[in-house]
This record gives sequence, C-alpha cells and structure tokens, in this order.
Amino acid sequence: MTSTPTRVRLGTALGRRKPVADLVAEAGHGPLKRSLGLGQLTMLSIGATLGSGIFVVLGEAVPVAGPAVVLSFVLAGVTALFSALSYAELAGMIPLSGSSYSYAYATLGELVAWVCGWCLILEYGVSVASVAVGWGQYVNELLQLAFGVALPESISGPPGDGGLVNVPAIVVVLLAMVLLLSGAKESARANAIMVVVKIATLVLFCAIAFTAVQAKNFTPFLPLGLAGMSAGGAKLFFSYIGFDAASTAGEEARNPQRDLPRAILLSLGIVTVLYCLVAVAAVGALPWQQFDDQQAALSHVLTSVLDSPFWAGVLAVGALVAISSVVLTVLYGQTRIMFAMSRDGLVPKTLSTVHPRTGVPRTNTLVVSAFVAVLAAFVPLGKLADATSIGTLFAFGLVNIAVLVLRKRRPDDARTFRVPFSPVTPILGVLCCAYMMFSLDGATWVVFGGWMLLGLVLYFGYGIRRSRLAAAK
Ligand code: ALA
Repeated sequence: MTSTPTRVRLGTALGRRKPVADLVAEAGHGPLKRSLGLGQLTMLSIGATLGSGIFVVLGEAVPVAGPAVVLSFVLAGVTALFSALSYAELAGMIPLSGSSYSYAYATLGELVAWVCGWCLILEYGVSVASVAVGWGQYVNELLQLAFGVALPESISGPPGDGGLVNVPAIVVVLLAMVLLLSGAKESARANAIMVVVKIATLVLFCAIAFTAVQAKNFTPFLPLGLAGMSAGGAKLFFSYIGFDAASTAGEEARNPQRDLPRAILLSLGIVTVLYCLVAVAAVGALPWQQFDDQQAALSHVLTSVLDSPFWAGVLAVGALVAISSVVLTVLYGQTRIMFAMSRDGLVPKTLSTVHPRTGVPRTNTLVVSAFVAVLAAFVPLGKLADATSIGTLFAFGLVNIAVLVLRKRRPDDARTFRVPFSPVTPILGVLCCAYMMFSLDGATWVVFGGWMLLGLVLYFGYGIRRSRLAAAK
C-alpha cells in the first residue's frame, strides 16, 4: 500500500531533526554580537519577569486566595522552578537564540519545534502586547494622581473596549523598538537601570507596608480553602513568565554555556523572594477583603497605610518603569526567536538578516514591533492574554520532555548544568504544566486550539517546503 502525500509529509515533518552538534556549531558562528555577561543576562530575565504580574495581577489573586496568596506565589514559583531547571540544562547545552524552539528542533522534530515556536509567539509577542496595554493604564493612573486628568477613552483603548486606538501602548512599543535597534548591549544597559528601579520600588513598598503589618490580618489564613490558594496560583503563574528570556540571548552571551543556566535560576530565585515578601507585606498591612480586585493593588495598600497619595504616585512611576522593561526584554526575546526560526527557513529569510554595524536583526525588529504595536493598539486582548499562559505552559512542558529525550539519546554529552533527580523532576515539570493548563477555562482552550490550527496551516503551506533541512536533502 502506498502512503498518501499527507502521511509522507507528516512523517517528514515529525522526523526532521537538527543534530545537537550542528546546532552548537551554528551557535558558535552566528552573525549576532556576543556582548552580554552574567549580570546583564540575569537582568534580562528579571526584566522580562517582574512587571504587571506583581503590580496588577496580585490585586486579582488576593480576593481568590485570601492571605494564602503568599502560598499561591510559592505554588506558582515551584511550577516555574521545575521548568526553569530544564531550561537551565538545555540552555547550557544548546545555547541558541531560539530558546525552547531550538531545543525542540534537536529532540522532537521540526513539526513539534514549529508548534513550540508558534506557542512562543503567544508567550512573547502576544503577552508583550497585553503588557503594553497595562502600561497605558498606569500612565492614566499617574496623570490622574499628578494632574487630576486622564487621557480620553478614544485614544487609550482599542475598538470594542470603548476606544478607537490605544496610543500609550503604541508609544511604549515604539520606544522599546528604537532601543532595540540601537543594539543588544545598549538595550541591556537601559534594561539594567530599569530593573534596579523596579526592585527598589518593591523594596520601598515592603519597607512602608511592613510598618503596618498586623498578625490578625493573617487569620484565617485560608478563608477560601486550598482550592482558593491553587486558583490564586494559576492566576499568578503569569507573574513568573519571562524567567526564560535569558535563553533567547544564547548567541549574544559572552559565555553562554556557563552563564545562561545561572542567569535563569538566579533571576527566578530573586523574583520569587521578592514576590513572597511583597505578598506578605501587602496582605499583612491591609485586610484581604479590602483588595476587592483593585487594579493598582500596591498603590491602594500604600494610600491606606500612609493616608497620602504621594507614595502611591511614586509606586505608579515604579510600575511604569517596571512594565517598560518587560516590554523591552520580551520584545527582544520575540525578535531573537523569530531570528532562529527564519535562519531555519520556517519563516521568511529576511527576518534573519543582521545589520553589519549594530549587529541587530533590523527588518525582524521592525516587523515584530509593528505586529505587536498593531495588536496592542487595536485588539481587545482579554482572552488572548489568558492564551499567553496556556501557550507558555505548553512550551515549558515541551522543554521538560526535551530534557528527558536528550538524557536518553545523548547521555554522555557535556552539560554545564544538570537537572537534579532526573527523570523525576522533569516529569513533575510536565505534570505541573498540564495541571495548570487544565485549570484554565474552556474559552482559553478554544482560542488556543484556533491558534494551533492557524500555525499548522502556515507550516504545511510554507515552512515544510522552505525549511533549510528540506533544502539540504
Ligand atoms: N511576568 C511578566 C509580567 O508579570 C509577563 O508582566
């Protein structure tokens, strides 16, 4: 019996893998400039992680979990940790800019790699658009605190959300684009300054809020039960997305094998400690019932502790800086993932041409920024923002599987970091990701299904024939 063309194609797509040795050699001779050290890589990951999750989503999680929101952060952090360990092992082994897309290409074949890269567009491209929208909300908060005015609705929201176009979201994306065009080193420097400002803002918040902490605010600790605590955890998972950003700088790191695993784990550790401290301070200073889904929860805590809007204003400035650095670093990550996919021929080649002076993939940066700006400006992102989490969890799950596959297939390859207690840890990583995915609602799954379908159509219509591996045959 002869196979149908579809079967042949599916087999090809699943079977085409890039050998690890080729990938590592490719990483050594890429056109991008190697300028980033451990400090900047760690800042890159913190930059991409610490943002609207702690400044905005915390306020949505407290009414769901009560004071146990502290444990919700721990729960989401542990889920992130399993995957972070797997990222650390693979980033040290296959230090390419494509991050988990490249790991999947080496282990699970071209089709799964494409699907992973397609999910990364949800993690990076779509999430950066929704984070840019959050930036606009803080601009308005600040304008209101400082001058008692707000931007007209028509220019501060997309059609369908009461406006025509979201101008602040376009502005922040364009500012990030200009920085990225100037070079990776320049962007990393600007990001490092912003990271210092956002950490200082959260430390300041803790210092003020801890003066008002009262033991009675922690009892009962679990007013909404364990279910409330884990629902809070699922919501707060968003605040950990981005720790993997350093892995998109594999070809711009000075010593990727040594520094990428360290940067990923260090950033996750710093962010988790900060989140837990902020959560203890917030629910300790203000009874959890008073959070009431506040958008700017941390500002609300400070206003009620100090009875003056001044510090809330300072916090809003910090939040604005924090979210700017998320936009910058996540946009950076998306351009580098596209760069890797383009080099492999799965998206047009022009996205991997690099400017000779700045070492920046220029067309790529322009195209990705335009896509994100249009999305943020004109699309009401409600359900798409949830799809960010589901896409990220799917990609994280694949990274854990890739560790298991490579341990079996290439047990003797050099690894600068090894996941402890493998295979138990990566298996727990996959299970945690699956559990979190299934705790998201049906509508999110529908959006995710549609997105995957679109991805498959594009792959079978374009990538499968244009792939560099197809041409090499
Ligand atoms: N973790 C990032 C944030 O919270 C996406 O903004």
